[in-house]
Amino acid sequence: MVKIALIGAAGQIGTPLSLLCKASDLFDEICLYDVVHAPGIATDLMHIDTKAKVHGYLPDKSGLKKTLDGADIVVVTAGIARKPGMTRDDLFKTNASLIRDIFNEIAATCPQAMCCVVTNPVNSTLVIAAEALKKAGVFEPTRLFGVTTLDVVRASTFAAHALGGNADPRDFKVPVIGGHSGATILPLYSQAKPPVNLDDETMASVINRVQFGGDEIVKSKQGAGSATTCMAYAGFRFVKAILEGKNGATVTEEAYVYLPGLPGGKEIATELGVDFFTVKVQLGQKGAVRALPIGKISENETKLLHVAIRELKTNIATGLSLMSE
Ligand code: LMR
Repeated sequence: MVKIALIGAAGQIGTPLSLLCKASDLFDEICLYDVVHAPGIATDLMHIDTKAKVHGYLPDKSGLKKTLDGADIVVVTAGIARKPGMTRDDLFKTNASLIRDIFNEIAATCPQAMCCVVTNPVNSTLVIAAEALKKAGVFEPTRLFGVTTLDVVRASTFAAHALGGNADPRDFKVPVIGGHSGATILPLYSQAKPPVNLDDETMASVINRVQFGGDEIVKSKQGAGSATTCMAYAGFRFVKAILEGKNGATVTEEAYVYLPGLPGGKEIATELGVDFFTVKVQLGQKGAVRALPIGKISENETKLLHVAIRELKTNIATGLSLMSE
């Protein structure tokens, strides 16, 4: 019996994510929560011929608690999205307190769940989630993840686009470390498998496109929001990886995590000087099993890493400051 709770299910990421979950046949129960429309979306999904029972809840009648009760996996996509001219940090004011309140309820209702945070700015919202769980005395770093899979998806996709021809994006494995916004996103093309052979100028533009891929969509949508379908795709890929790990497979994915709480993470945190960071994580039956070492990186990537860390420190401090109020 596997239950997933989707918080923010009526949003433009939450709804396609709920469809992917229902269509996958990987769940016995899918609970949707949002401030509007969640029961209607649940009814709609229940006409699909897969086994999962779908329930939708609103804030009244303890809807959030009912959604979370007994959940094995929780994905939080609730919150507002960017408009042109905004950075992810501009979302902080609105989304930060939402995340705090949701995680206070998670701490009370399903502290054992594996929790995935999609709500931006992830570099700060994950810190808030961790602090809320910590304050409640139930923080287990191996079960809390900031979802950065879209950066990994983009790193493969944009490399294939740059290489042209019949290159299949899924043939390229490119680790992406750091965080999930602008210069904090660091694709490690020096470690790409198979190698991505591009001249320096093209490589620099591909790296920049991965770092600022979110802006490309914000601009293209002309005020109608930011990434939704590709984010739902990436979020679902991460959820699937968590499930595979839970079912006993050895699987790795990148995620933004609290490094000192993971085996192998303390060393990375000490070396980099940040506690929250995206690394490749090995997933197992109870969540993250270990943080994998970053490995050898190029001179240019080392320079970009310094920039990423500087920006991340500010983002982490922003998250911590809300929780110390
Ligand atoms: C993205 O990477 O596209 C998302 O985080 C949405 C955004 O605001 O860029």
